[in-house]
Amino acid sequence: MNKISIAPSILSADFGILKEEIRAVETAGADLIHVDVMDGHFVPSITIGPLVVKGARKATKLPLDVHLMISEPEKYIDDFAKAGSDIITFHIESCNDPKAIIAKIKSFGLKAGASIKPRTDIKALDGILGDLDMVLVMTVEPGFAGQSFIKEALPKIRNLRKIYKKDIEVDGGINKDTSKLAIEAGANILVAGTSVFGADDYKKAIDDLRIGG
Ligand code: DX5
Ligand code: ZN
Repeated sequence: MNKISIAPSILSADFGILKEEIRAVETAGADLIHVDVMDGHFVPSITIGPLVVKGARKATKLPLDVHLMISEPEKYIDDFAKAGSDIITFHIESCNDPKAIIAKIKSFGLKAGASIKPRTDIKALDGILGDLDMVLVMTVEPGFAGQSFIKEALPKIRNLRKIYKKDIEVDGGINKDTSKLAIEAGANILVAGTSVFGADDYKKAIDDLRIGG
């Protein structure tokens, strides 16, 4: 697993010119576009919904990596799938029947991911790892961009990598220093909001993250 993919999070983009922002990170070498969906219930903030995913879909051919930080994710898989998602990731803490959600995501021909918050043990994924295409390990408490990387999540990534050969994504506080730590621990997809969209030069910011390992 040596290719490192970079997924800029549009949460930190300028929404007034979202299409241009997405195209700019695509040109700068992004591999995926990360979309942070928050409902004001599972997390305190409210961000975006399927309509924005639909708009993003028209702006790029890159895969749309949709991160659902919402309660009752099973109710919304249809909407996000039809809006043009390529990967849909739900939080293991917010659902009772993860196998049913994974099956639903896959019924649309999409990749299914499950995410764990910084304090959730990887044991929470027991029984579903084999069904998943990706695990997203949060390195901040979900809810806001611009927080500091929680280093205590690194041993979880390391332990997960020993037993899981598919994609491991990290999300939260990723910059050119913390990207190294995440890659060394075994992550291969890095989400980055502030460190990409807050930079003057998106290409340099993305390149700096990718060579972290
Ligand atoms: C946090 C979101 C992240 C966040 C990343 O709840 O899932 O994707 O926007 O932002 P930065 O890179 O600024 O920590
Ligand atoms: Zn995210």
